[in-house]
Amino acid sequence: PASDGGEGPSTAFRVDSEGLQRQIDELASFSDSPAPSVTRVLYSDKDVQARRYIKGIMNQLGLAVREDAVGNIFGRWEGSEAVLGAVGTGSHVDAIPFSGKYDGVVGVLGALEAISLLKRSGFQPKRSLDVIMFTSEEPTRFGISCLGSRLMAGIEELAQSLRKVVDNQNVSFLDAAESAGYKMHPEDLQSVFLKKDSYSAFIELHIEQGPILEKEGIPIGIVTAIAAPASITVEFEGNGGHAGAVLMPARNDAGLAAAELALAVEKHVLESGSIDTVGTVGILQLHPGAINSIPSKSHLEIDVRDIDEKRRNDVIEKIRRSATEISKNRGVVLSEFRIINQDPPALSDKSVVEAMEFAAKQLNLEYKKMISRAYHDSLFMARVSPMGMIFIPCYKGLYSIGPSPFSYSHKPEEYASPEDMANGVKVLALTMAKLSLE
Ligand code: GLV
Ligand code: MN
Ligand code: MN
Ligand code: MN
Repeated sequence: PASDGGEGPSTAFRVDSEGLQRQIDELASFSDSPAPSVTRVLYSDKDVQARRYIKGIMNQLGLAVREDAVGNIFGRWEGSEAVLGAVGTGSHVDAIPFSGKYDGVVGVLGALEAISLLKRSGFQPKRSLDVIMFTSEEPTRFGISCLGSRLMAGIEELAQSLRKVVDNQNVSFLDAAESAGYKMHPEDLQSVFLKKDSYSAFIELHIEQGPILEKEGIPIGIVTAIAAPASITVEFEGNGGHAGAVLMPARNDAGLAAAELALAVEKHVLESGSIDTVGTVGILQLHPGAINSIPSKSHLEIDVRDIDEKRRNDVIEKIRRSATEISKNRGVVLSEFRIINQDPPALSDKSVVEAMEFAAKQLNLEYKKMISRAYHDSLFMARVSPMGMIFIPCYKGLYSIGPSPFSYSHKPEEYASPEDMANGVKVLALTMAKLSLE
């Protein structure tokens, strides 16, 4: 009998939920902030420890482990027809500051458990099965989201810009990579590009990061599309000065320009009239950052997303106009308005969606087709492979603030139940098995 609630064909198909939870908890201990929060930034010591941990599990499972120049890690179970495109899965284990332990991690450790499950059940793959741990899905260190998968997708401009980018400590990408054990020549960046037809399918397992599955009591989400993300960096410069001595009419406060722009972002997003348009100012820094000094510089990072690309782009244009207007009205200089990325949405592939639906039905698991409002490495894998994503519920977690509980992600309270993770692992395993034989 199954310990995880399966019946029928799933009865012998049992996920090691305890082992998976133990691994998730262990991985969460590699963190630069105290539990329950997790902070694991690209190429930091904790990231290196997490990488070692993942490679260790891949080795234990007997997978052939390969790393590319930027540290995307691949664990391959070779199929009987290894010349065919492989079936890939995977996600990330980097974690934004003060976040939780499930984002991305479920799609890496859960994928490794799916492989283990297939091995335990005697499955023999025809197409090889790959588990990928992507480098830096989160934009924390260099401002570039989905860095590893974006590069795998073969974006030449990214390979060029990575030669020059620095973090906020002025450490270059290449130096940071080297300190984590990835010493490369700038020309090696192109070697990360995936060869055509490397994958016949790519499936990512991830927590939903939103409230729908939890609210509706549905264990599996099948993602049909990923919303289009964009991010923008803005800087204003004014004269600054003494907070007591400079009278109000004489000021050109870069901080107030930033505050006004942050409110304009909210206004323009709401003007779109669609619930699918979202905008966030998640970074707002003032210089020199002293209570008694008028901000002479401000720096904002703005995240805008929509399932409709044109509508998102319209919002970006309005934000640009507001930034210019605010700088005029306040007598500050708009010294930077830079679109870091402005990605189109991605659609899941019909055959991958069908395989995921088949798997959920086989397992008697109710599912819902839905969009992903968060971005994922799948957004870029979709450019080089037929793509699909499996979502599991993301609970409101251990705490509930206020009268209407909402689901948590990118917060320490992030939580997915062992049962939901086991369901996700089984759907992933069956989907991969099916696609491996096609
Ligand atoms: C990824 O973490 C996102 O912000 O969607
Ligand atoms: Mn995330
Ligand atoms: Mn994620
Ligand atoms: Mn993400």
